[in-house]
Amino acid sequence: MPQPLVILGIETSCDETAVAVVSNNKVLANCVHTQTQHAQYGGVVPELASRAHQQKLPAVLEQALHASGVKTEALDGIAYTHGPGLLGALLVGASFARGLSLALRKPCIAVHHMEAHIQSLLIPQNSDNTSNRIPSFPFLCLTVSGGHSQLVKVNSEHAFELLGETIDDAAGEAFDKVSKILGLPYPGGPLVDAYASKGNPKAFRFPIAKVPELDFSFSGFKTSFLYFYERYNPQRRSLSEQELCDLCASAQHAIVEELLLKLRLAIRLHPVKNIAIAGGVSANSSLRQKLLKIAEEMDVDLFLPRMEYCTDNAGMIAYSGMLNFGRPERINLPGPPLPRWPMGT
Ligand code: KG4
Ligand code: ZN
Repeated sequence: MPQPLVILGIETSCDETAVAVVSNNKVLANCVHTQTQHAQYGGVVPELASRAHQQKLPAVLEQALHASGVKTEALDGIAYTHGPGLLGALLVGASFARGLSLALRKPCIAVHHMEAHIQSLLIPQNSDNTSNRIPSFPFLCLTVSGGHSQLVKVNSEHAFELLGETIDDAAGEAFDKVSKILGLPYPGGPLVDAYASKGNPKAFRFPIAKVPELDFSFSGFKTSFLYFYERYNPQRRSLSEQELCDLCASAQHAIVEELLLKLRLAIRLHPVKNIAIAGGVSANSSLRQKLLKIAEEMDVDLFLPRMEYCTDNAGMIAYSGMLNFGRPERINLPGPPLPRWPMGT
């Protein structure tokens, strides 16, 4: 029997400094430091993110090694996020990974961040129930994060068919914009979600974009929310709790309905037995609840990631590294990391 692979994963594509250790199919440690210094700026400040990665990586590495009980000599490879993401932030992770790889004489594995979000659904521990079930191929995945909104047909561990994507902003950006306009700190998604749970989603009506086929668009929604709010609250008075909850619920309703409209269409156009979601926005409680209904109506099996695998984490990077270990096109890449990088290349 082949020896199980032990892979270290490093994630630094945005504002999470994360290190994880995977041994064969099991995540032994999944450590994340979330940078909080961006909250006051209403979004991630790239220069601050790079500096914070540089400061925090050694400590998060120590933490992950300690939690996993794995010694560096036992590692078979070092996986890191090669893109897409913020260039400076990626460079810190890539340099750190390459340094470790040289020192330990172990291969460096370049991981694609969006592929890793999807591949995290294959980690048995990342299962929404106790049966450790994972989706079977082919499955449809709605991948929704701060930088991407994509509908992907996943034909195998390494075969990703991009069926549609946003033509402008991502769903996560729409959530973050709503929270910024309402004066809430970054990242806005979790806060909008929490307020929305106490609000009326029909209190205000926002447009759902009419984009052909399986693509998305959220820039029109962002502008309409801004113009609406400027008319609604020109004095910028403090909102009552109920107003805030109703605004969040109505905005969330528009974003989630657009995602679900396209997901339903994707299921009709590309019939599959399994569907899944991934990425930071997959933590959204309304999206998750509505998906349960859709899965029942459309007779498909739904796979929802656990919260720790929704937002950025290194467990998914280490796992993707394990899946890519035998692929020369991903080993010891010479060039700089790639802020833009198509999936499956
Ligand atoms: O995948 P992720 O951690 O980072 C990127 O790869 O971009 O996604 C971050 C995004 C942010 O826009 C954040 O506001 C959003 O995910 N997010 C949520 C929720 N939790 C995180 N959006 C809606 N509802 C949530 N509960
Ligand atoms: Zn992500």
